Amino acid sequence: MIKYLGSKRALAGAIAAGAAELGARSAADLFAGTTRVGQALRSAGLEVLSNDTAAYSEAFGQAYVAAGADVDRARIRRLLRHLQALPPVDGYVTETFCRRSRYFMPENGMRIDAVRDEIGRLDLDPVERGILLTSLLEAADRVDSTVGVQMAYLKRWAPRARNALELREPAMVAGPPGRVARADANALAPELDGIDLAYVDPPYNQHSYLGNYHVWETLVRWDAPQHYGVACKRVDCRTRKSAYNRRAPALAALAGLIEHVATPWLVVSFSDEGFHRPGEVEALLRRRGHVGAVGVPRPRYVGARIGIHDPAGRRVGTVSHLENTEHLFVCGPDRRRVERALVSISRALVRHDGAGGNPPAGRAPEGRHAAVHASHL
Ligand SMILES: C[S@@+](CC[C@H](N)C(=O)[O-])C[C@H]1O[C@@H](n2cnc3c(N)ncnc32)[C@H](O)[C@@H]1O
Repeated sequence: MIKYLGSKRALAGAIAAGAAELGARSAADLFAGTTRVGQALRSAGLEVLSNDTAAYSEAFGQAYVAAGADVDRARIRRLLRHLQALPPVDGYVTETFCRRSRYFMPENGMRIDAVRDEIGRLDLDPVERGILLTSLLEAADRVDSTVGVQMAYLKRWAPRARNALELREPAMVAGPPGRVARADANALAPELDGIDLAYVDPPYNQHSYLGNYHVWETLVRWDAPQHYGVACKRVDCRTRKSAYNRRAPALAALAGLIEHVATPWLVVSFSDEGFHRPGEVEALLRRRGHVGAVGVPRPRYVGARIGIHDPAGRRVGTVSHLENTEHLFVCGPDRRRVERALVSISRALVRHDGAGGNPPAGRAPEGRHAAVHASHL
């Protein structure tokens, strides 16, 4: 799966365990990103609505949340073989992301151009199109020359950039097929009548996901946008802004979402590296029902671990910290179920982390500090 800042890959199983304990049969993943959480919820048997404003997330949603047993997998494999065998094309990607910038080696840029042009010509339904685009995005991600964000590319080619682009079939996800939307989460939230749970994982700082993943957005939209700067970002990175990327609007947006979301149950996650304080989020959630939380220590993203370097490649300065805490809140109308969900989440986190990891620190409903500490379970 694609490199993605803030991906909840490590927490997805625990979130799904908590949702199952709450008795939820359906869920909306309102800021779906990679769709890792939606996939875990689907695998746990929930019907999922996967939503994000990014076009690339919509493609992942079609491949991993919406694709059901009716997809003709033999046809998908045939199409992937056809795409893989196309002659190279020197097009937008080669010019913009290989010559003007250096995200891919030109040989791979020309393969990407050929594959993406052909996906545009094929007669596909939305799920098939999502599967082929996901295959291309994942293939491109395996040969890019970045540290996982597209604000910049590496000065020297990453070793993986020398591998040839290889299309693979996206895995089939078990569970009921769901739906996909590409909407502002705050606009969608009041329309979730009949859905049991909303998972809320908004951006947590000033860095825009569109700016960080502009190459993926262009590969999916295929609109050959004007670009700017050394990173060759799409010009609409300047105008397509999320309220969640600025401190004051972010808290107001989160408050509005929590107030108006139509689902009885809410799971909210955010990092302590971001704008919001746990107490602020808890106060917002308390207006909706009973609240409990778990704090999960996580390593910071790879860029932080590599450190800070000057243009000559010399290490300068120090990175302030290498770990942050991911907070997971559960909120809803029944206190006992919130409590039981937190226990399930904590158990699943300990199982995922193995014997050596740090146990999550937890707080019981209504903010009382109580025993969901791993060793007490
Ligand atoms: C922290 S990431 C979510 C990561 C995701 N849970 C995962 O595991 O991959 C936040 C996501 O919110 C999306 N986003 C930003 N503003 C949004 C908005 N107003 N409505 C819906 N999605 C938004 C971004 O495109 C990004 O994918």
